[in-house]
Amino acid sequence: MKPFLFVGNFKANPVTREEVEQYQALLLRETGEKRWQHAEAALAPSFAHLALMESLPPSFSLAAQHGFPEKNGPYTGEVTFAMLKDLGVGYVLLGHSERREYFHETNDTVAVRVDSALKFLLRPIVCIGETKEELDAGKRNEVLAAQVRSAVQGLSKMQAEKIIFAYEPRWAIGSGMTPTSKEIQEIKDTLRSLLGETSRERIRILYGGSVKDSNLEEVCLAPGMDGVLVGKESLSPYEVVKMMERAEKYYDHKQ
Ligand code: PGA
Repeated sequence: MKPFLFVGNFKANPVTREEVEQYQALLLRETGEKRWQHAEAALAPSFAHLALMESLPPSFSLAAQHGFPEKNGPYTGEVTFAMLKDLGVGYVLLGHSERREYFHETNDTVAVRVDSALKFLLRPIVCIGETKEELDAGKRNEVLAAQVRSAVQGLSKMQAEKIIFAYEPRWAIGSGMTPTSKEIQEIKDTLRSLLGETSRERIRILYGGSVKDSNLEEVCLAPGMDGVLVGKESLSPYEVVKMMERAEKYYDHKQ
């Protein structure tokens, strides 16, 4: 069984170095250097704070929220995957809905980044999901199919299996609303059926959008998702650890 994956997306938070240091100190205090057997976490602070996050507990690794596909060169303002790799980053979020909405990311720009991230040995976490309008128009599956196909297009099976998909309905992000457990399970089945025969069991699929400790079971564990992508609640080390513990216990009972 693949371990549960908790991904924390800090977005443009917090502001100060002191807060980042406090976060790590609290996280270390809460985990007491514990190693989870069935759960692992990746935290994605802003670029400005990546290098400060160097004292993470075991079972935790670093993720980036975005990245530039070229290795280096005259690209003012960009941070490349090669730089991220060198900083010890293991995962990179790609195509988050806020990047699609405010920074003109499309399925095509995401596909280029998936390819490049894999070349630089980063695990891409590709965010997919429909808007409320697309949902109401009955276009959810069509939108998801285009997002998934574009991300895996041109990749070998081995490369494609390294992708992690995060299903994040846009209307659920930061809204307190979530799909039902049954709907999430159906979407997982739809996504799996879009992936090739062998890959579909290997590719991890996470759920994201208004995840918190009290709904973790409903939106992730019960529908059999492989983990969660969490925004707001990941800003509290207590909540992160609570969710890791809950997943660990759930997986323990399942065995
Ligand atoms: P949220 O954000 O958990 O605050 O809804 C999720 C995300 O944007 O990845």
